[in-house]
Formats: sequence, structure tokens, C-alpha cells
Amino acid sequence: MSQTTHQLSPDQIVVTAVPDDERVWVPQAPNVWFRPLMLNTIAGQWCNLLRVRKAGVLSRHRHPAPVHGYVIKGAWRYLEHDWVARAGDYIFEPPGETHTLYVDEDVDEMITFFNISGCMYYVDPEDRHTGFEDVFTKIDMCRKHYSSVGLGESFVDQFVR
Ligand SMILES: [Fe+2]
Repeated sequence: MSQTTHQLSPDQIVVTAVPDDERVWVPQAPNVWFRPLMLNTIAGQWCNLLRVRKAGVLSRHRHPAPVHGYVIKGAWRYLEHDWVARAGDYIFEPPGETHTLYVDEDVDEMITFFNISGCMYYVDPEDRHTGFEDVFTKIDMCRKHYSSVGLGESFVDQFVR
């Protein structure tokens, strides 16, 4: 087999996306978790799964860069739009949009893949800034969680580029 990847290129990542080990899910809020897949410190971008087991408003947020999503399980929507993203759907979120992520009562669990660039900029209903997440805050959350569940904080390193 010949080498086709440039020597300066970072390593590939090949993992089972929905993990068998529950500890891989990082708690984000009560009944909300993310599972890191690729944490890109060079471009300021990350890929993760979001898992939600509650109904109602998840967050109101804005992002300055594009977001791509693919729904693996369940369904969700944004209060600002009239569509519902269901299992199998792809979603492109243009930069600069503010929206409120919402899961309906009849959804027991939703899992969605998101590819996020830049940051998640959280806002309240009056569009006032309440917090943010970027690839570095995600890495910090992973380190803390993986340390606490016995996987070790370096468990996240396999997803960092
Ligand atoms: Fe969004």
C-alpha cells in the first residue's frame, strides 16, 4: 500500500460515532450531552454529536460561521422556522443567524451530528450575550469529564487536531 497522505497532514480519525461506552458522552446540561468526534484547534471548528433527552428549549444562540447538521435519531426544530429536522435530514445553518433550538414533547431522544465553525454565541430572548463555546471550551469540558469518569483527561486527545 503506498502512502497517499502528506507527511504534514494530521492523523485520520475513525471511530464509532455513537459510542458503546456511556462515559464518552460529555454532560452539557441536565439531560443534554455531546460526544466529541473531531476538535480542530487550527481552524477553530469541531464535529460532535448532540444528544438530548428532554423537551423544550435547549438554547438560543447565534454563530458567526456555518454549521452543518445531520439528524441521526429523533427530531428537533428552531422556533424561528416552520420546518422540523428529522432522522436522516441534513441541515445547513448560514452564518449570522440567531435561533432557538427546541425539542418537542413526543421526542424521547434526539441525536444529531453537528459540524460547527467558530463558536456558539449564546443569547437570551432579548439577544443579550449570555456565554459562548468554542473548540477550546469543548476540549476543556471533555478533559474535566473524562478525568472524572476514569477515562483520563487525555482520552480527548484522540479527537484533537
Ligand atoms: Fe445553530
